[in-house]
Amino acid sequence: MLTIALPKGRLGDKVYDMLAAAGYDCPGYYDKNRKLVFESPENNVRYLLVKPSDVAIYVEHHAADVGIVGKDILLEQGSDVYELLDLKIGKCRMCVAAPEDYVEDKDRTLRVATKYVNVAKEFYGGRNRAIEIIKLNGSIELAPILGLTDVIVDIVETGGTIKENHLKVIEEFKDISARFIANKTSFKFENEIITDMMNKLGEQIK
Ligand code: PRP
Repeated sequence: MLTIALPKGRLGDKVYDMLAAAGYDCPGYYDKNRKLVFESPENNVRYLLVKPSDVAIYVEHHAADVGIVGKDILLEQGSDVYELLDLKIGKCRMCVAAPEDYVEDKDRTLRVATKYVNVAKEFYGGRNRAIEIIKLNGSIELAPILGLTDVIVDIVETGGTIKENHLKVIEEFKDISARFIANKTSFKFENEIITDMMNKLGEQIK
């Protein structure tokens, strides 16, 4: 039986629908309860519902064979897994944003709020820009509004949050989408099953 780590929430539901259409449906997935594990012995799959930021951790440590995770999280965590397929859903951009009237002073250390500390360090490191990072876990857009930082590094999907909070995108530097990943040992020993799943999932990409 193949264990699949799915991100809880909207992306997870979309991915589950693709997997179900590919022949890996699992009774009870949409029942409104708090179960975190669903099994389909007929289809030889077990689903684990985990926090989106934990998917790659489960896969890397072999608690799951495969998983679906945003590229933003893979970049941030530098996970040691195989990235097999771009599912072309959950699309967004990694951006730098700042208050609408912001003008950068290049002589000062740039203060950056983000959930993506490693992504931000790499981005500004490549430009030799001195930065100070304030790590937040959500509602990042508040930081520059309150004067806590100059800019944010965050994902932008519709742009709604940026707009509602009177920020502007200064730069988009990475396209993000959901990726099908596999544990390296699983990919070696369950290669046929995982490859088959990858191909069937690929057929569901619109
Ligand atoms: C993400 C991200 C932005 C928002 C962007 O936050 O950090 O705040 O979505 O989406 P938009 O461009 O469509 O408005 P999320 O909803 O994951 O919540 P969080 O603030 O708890 O991180």
